[in-house]
Amino acid sequence: MNRLGLRGRLLVAQIVVLLVCCVTIAAVAVAIAAPLFHNHLAMAGIEDDNVRLHTEEAFSQTIFVALLSGIAVALVGASIAAVYVVRRITAPISRLAVAAQSVAEGKYDVHIEHSDVDSDFTRLEGAFSDMAERLDHSDRVRKRLLADLAHELRTPVSTLAAYVDGLEDGVLEADGTSWAVMRDQLERLRRLAHDLSDVSAADEHALDLILAADDLSDIVCSTTTAVAPRFEERAVTLSTATPAHPVRVRVDRQRIEQILSNLLENALRHTPGGGSVAVAVTESPDHISVAVSDTGEGIPEDQLESVFDRFHRGESSDGSGLGLTIARSLARAHGGSLTARPNPLGGTILELALPGQLASDT
Ligand SMILES: Nc1ncnc2c1ncn2[C@@H]1O[C@H](COP(=O)(O)OP(=O)(O)OP(=O)(O)O)[C@@H](O)[C@H]1O
Ligand SMILES: [Mg+2]
Repeated sequence: MNRLGLRGRLLVAQIVVLLVCCVTIAAVAVAIAAPLFHNHLAMAGIEDDNVRLHTEEAFSQTIFVALLSGIAVALVGASIAAVYVVRRITAPISRLAVAAQSVAEGKYDVHIEHSDVDSDFTRLEGAFSDMAERLDHSDRVRKRLLADLAHELRTPVSTLAAYVDGLEDGVLEADGTSWAVMRDQLERLRRLAHDLSDVSAADEHALDLILAADDLSDIVCSTTTAVAPRFEERAVTLSTATPAHPVRVRVDRQRIEQILSNLLENALRHTPGGGSVAVAVTESPDHISVAVSDTGEGIPEDQLESVFDRFHRGESSDGSGLGLTIARSLARAHGGSLTARPNPLGGTILELALPGQLASDT
């Protein structure tokens, strides 16, 4: 029976039901028709035994032939209908089985035609499609991540290798310049390792936050104070606007500083001398936000979202393209958001929004 498969089993079940139906109809018809016809002959006043016997025999034969023909036609018609119905029911299951087999073999790019057999089955198809799509997406992200990572590692590692070889062969002198270049490349590798561990922690939703009551204005001021000398050096004006009263929040201070430092670092990197960067803390009924607005080169409209993707970086950047990815993950871990939009004055505004209830928690 197992070898029949679902389709065969359903067909056999339908044919068995059909046969039971036909046999029951025939048995009941025979059992009722003969005595009924006999009674009718008696009521019609046919007394002659010979005539009665012949008439009843003729009736029995007629009934027998009619029932047999009816059953034969019904069996053929019902079998055709059963094959059609069983095919309709089992085709989507077969399609799903083929798709599941592909996914099991690592081919996630499957397309499932949605059937209308049953609402639960349609839900199953939908869930399967979503699952395959997610697996496909994760697989592509993983491959891209590995390729990007290999690319990121290649430059500092080959620079270091070239310097070590040059020093060993005596082609390069072990002077301040060589050490500075090597230290730079090592620092780049160290930062990359650090950033990658943050990105992977964010992917696993494992960013540890040490939440404590704090004043957001104070966090903003201490971050801007720390970076102010570098802005002065580059002749970029840095201004800060915060409410006169403390803005109470419950956050991980170091992580918020990390977000703001990244935004300020980006703003400085992409704003030419003579430009300005303004940091403003504002409160609204449902959220508290910190906007970092610069008058620099700006982010093209079609990249306002993709700048948050891992390893996305502009041509002029010498970073690893992970800063905004980490900053957004940290903002989300706080229950907030980080978005980019064009600055009406030219340049970009990056806005960190923290949910309002953070304030009332404190
Ligand atoms: N204020 C800004 N103005 C213009 N472009 C920006 C700005 N901020 C970010 N970008 C663009 O977004 C890209 C991604 O920024 P992100 O901070 O993620 O990476 P990065 O600065 O290149 O490297 P790092 O990992 O060192 O931060 C940048 O390379 C840059 O092209
Ligand atoms: Mg950056």
